[in-house]
Amino acid sequence: MEIPPRPALFDFHGVSMTKYFTENWDNIQDFKARPDDILIASYPKAGNTWVSYILDLLYFSHVSPDRQEVVPLHERVPFLEFYMPGFPSGTFFLNNTISMLSISHRHCSVVVMQCSLMLGVEELNQSTTVPRIIKTHLPVQFLSKSFWEQNSKIVYVARNAKDSVVSFFHFDRMNKAQPEPGDWSSYLKRFMDGKMVFGSWYEHVKGWWEKQKSHPNILYLFYEDLIENTEEELDKLCSFLGLSPSSESKKQVMEKALFDNMKNNKMANGSADAVLDFKISPFMRKGLPYLVVVFVYKSSSDFFGAKFYRCSSLIDQKLKKKR
Ligand code: A3P
Repeated sequence: MEIPPRPALFDFHGVSMTKYFTENWDNIQDFKARPDDILIASYPKAGNTWVSYILDLLYFSHVSPDRQEVVPLHERVPFLEFYMPGFPSGTFFLNNTISMLSISHRHCSVVVMQCSLMLGVEELNQSTTVPRIIKTHLPVQFLSKSFWEQNSKIVYVARNAKDSVVSFFHFDRMNKAQPEPGDWSSYLKRFMDGKMVFGSWYEHVKGWWEKQKSHPNILYLFYEDLIENTEEELDKLCSFLGLSPSSESKKQVMEKALFDNMKNNKMANGSADAVLDFKISPFMRKGLPYLVVVFVYKSSSDFFGAKFYRCSSLIDQKLKKKR
């Protein structure tokens, strides 16, 4: 498939964007969310794929194992705003999810019933649709209003600025749907100036943080917590979503979602995505915070503070293993 040229960055209602995320704007804004949709929102490179994979396993690994084997993650968890000539758009996937995943409408309620039983969901509503898990990088002010109207659940993932920008730089090198990254020092300056696709990291994490204060349907997670306390964060996710998987299922999900296991899984490691050039860089590079990183988040006591993040012995061990 022919990949169109790399796009230019331009100002879109005050946020730097490219045409691949704005040309389908009316359909994105008019997108009809459902109450059982689950949206995973993040600034780029915060671990959106990781959380997508975890949620897909939680909801579907028992009921549709084929889905894990043959459908790439970016089709199982469509990217709402993605729109590139020659590729199905995010809204196309979402509006056709059931047929795309080979689950016929006739069997839909059976799938929902199995899904509900496996997950321990107490009440089964026969008219419920299969939950759609949706990815977005939109800053909070751009999100389709239907998600708020329908009260869909939203999981926001934040990652520290330093690791985000390093990851973003390597990603832009290998992703032909992104603007040319240029050299590292100019890239870093652009990041600090907020001139990146999806705008400023600072505005993004802060905007969603502000929103979650008055919106109980947003769960705000941190990538670093997921690394350090995967099980605890998984419990948080399940309780937010009203799921109660058995400890065996939880163990399986955690095992499958380990960095190395995901990296070796062609349906989850990005290698099925035609715009990514793995000769330049892998999609999943390190998956670790640095030994000591500084990150800035809006804290609950309402100030933007710098926090030193000391990696746990677990991460130290992982690093030693890698050396
Ligand atoms: P690195 O480039 O630092 O390796 P996103 O999915 O939002 O684009 O984020 C991508 C980042 O999440 C990459 O970071 C990737 O390696 C990391 N990631 C993906 N799966 C992971 C996992 N199972 N464990 C830890 N990090 C993971």
